[in-house]
Amino acid sequence: MYLPFFLITLFLSGSLGISILRRPEYQTDDYYTYEEIQEFLKGLEKSYSKRVRLTDIGRSYENRKLTTITITNGDGRKDKNVIFIDAGFHAREWLTHTTALKAINELVVNFEENKDLLKNYDWIVLPLVNPDGYTFTRSGEKFTNETIVCNSERDVKCWRKNRQPNDGNCIGTDPNRNFAKGWGEGVTSNDPCNFTFMGTSPFSAPESKAVGKEILSLANSRRGIMYLSFHSAIGNIMYPWSYDSIDAENAEEHIEVAQSAVDAIAKVNSMVSSNYSVIPGYKLYPAGGTSSDFAYDVGFPLSYTVELPDSRGDLVFKFHPPTDLIKELVEETWIGLRAMAKKVIQLYPVKRS
Ligand SMILES: *[C@@H]1O[C@H](CO)[C@@H](O)[C@H](O)[C@H]1NC(C)=O
Ligand SMILES: *[C@@H]1O[C@H](CO)[C@@H](O)[C@H](O)[C@H]1NC(C)=O
Ligand SMILES: *[C@@H]1O[C@H](CO)[C@@H](O)[C@H](O)[C@H]1NC(C)=O
Ligand SMILES: [Zn+2]
Repeated sequence: MYLPFFLITLFLSGSLGISILRRPEYQTDDYYTYEEIQEFLKGLEKSYSKRVRLTDIGRSYENRKLTTITITNGDGRKDKNVIFIDAGFHAREWLTHTTALKAINELVVNFEENKDLLKNYDWIVLPLVNPDGYTFTRSGEKFTNETIVCNSERDVKCWRKNRQPNDGNCIGTDPNRNFAKGWGEGVTSNDPCNFTFMGTSPFSAPESKAVGKEILSLANSRRGIMYLSFHSAIGNIMYPWSYDSIDAENAEEHIEVAQSAVDAIAKVNSMVSSNYSVIPGYKLYPAGGTSSDFAYDVGFPLSYTVELPDSRGDLVFKFHPPTDLIKELVEETWIGLRAMAKKVIQLYPVKRS
């Protein structure tokens, strides 16, 4: 972090100088570490306790917390529909966490501007699914503003999987090949040394298991309407299925919702904005065991994997956008996400029976 003070502390100007309010400030100067993400979430819980609740839904292999933030409008209604978002399945996809934090910040801190998104919906966000892998990618050279071409996982910044040991010398399971839908199908590997290693069984990775449990519980209560998982860096919005060449039954509805993001982003007053393509996952390549297939399979009517862009104009940055670009990239994505959410709320205004 370049910011000297991650939390802005306002002091009582009175005689004692007691700290009365710690207001977490979202910043885009650099990528948040795992610890900074946890601090940011805790700060929000403290400052906005009526509208925010943190839940540890599990632990990573190395025992880091998998913390969701539940965001409400504070009216206490318990049966609202839910939009569930996660990010950071793959360790090197650095833009994804800060994109999730941007959404959290908009919904919590900029609540007045966005309260229409919380009237009949709660949002649950897990900004970092794979904290071990991500922390590993930050363990080498500390300089984050460096564009790298990842040809393999040999560079620590290019690591993709979690950090769970396997039999033999190779580490890591691909948590987005470890879900219980189409497990082992398509582009995935049963070789523990491969960067798409599917694990020893569905949900053998603790991170996938925790996310799967959360998805299942939201689907079973019928509150879960849209699941959206941020990845990078291809620049498309994918809907089911991924594991096989079949279109989701409500493909049209998926396209309609995703297209609202594409249209909203096209209107951004920026020199270059992203032009996402909207495709069924298998059209990228068939891949089984993904979280978005699982969410759709167990009952989320809308389920997406959003691949954030890999470039801006002529600059190709892949997984590690230069820090100068973080701000405009997360702003653009928020515009798209907000448009999708508005469309979802219009299509599913009330709880399904
Ligand atoms: C980050 O890298 C870009 C080039 O990719 C450069 O223009 C910019 O000055 C760098 N910013 C910092 C803070 O080092
Ligand atoms: C890893 O697995 C994928 C998917 O099966 C395969 O296409 C790729 O060749 C494998 N990589 C290596 C280095 O074996
Ligand atoms: C985005 O891509 C689509 C399909 O290639 C194209 O039809 C459309 O004109 C593009 N939109 C913008 C704003 O560039
Ligand atoms: Zn990914």
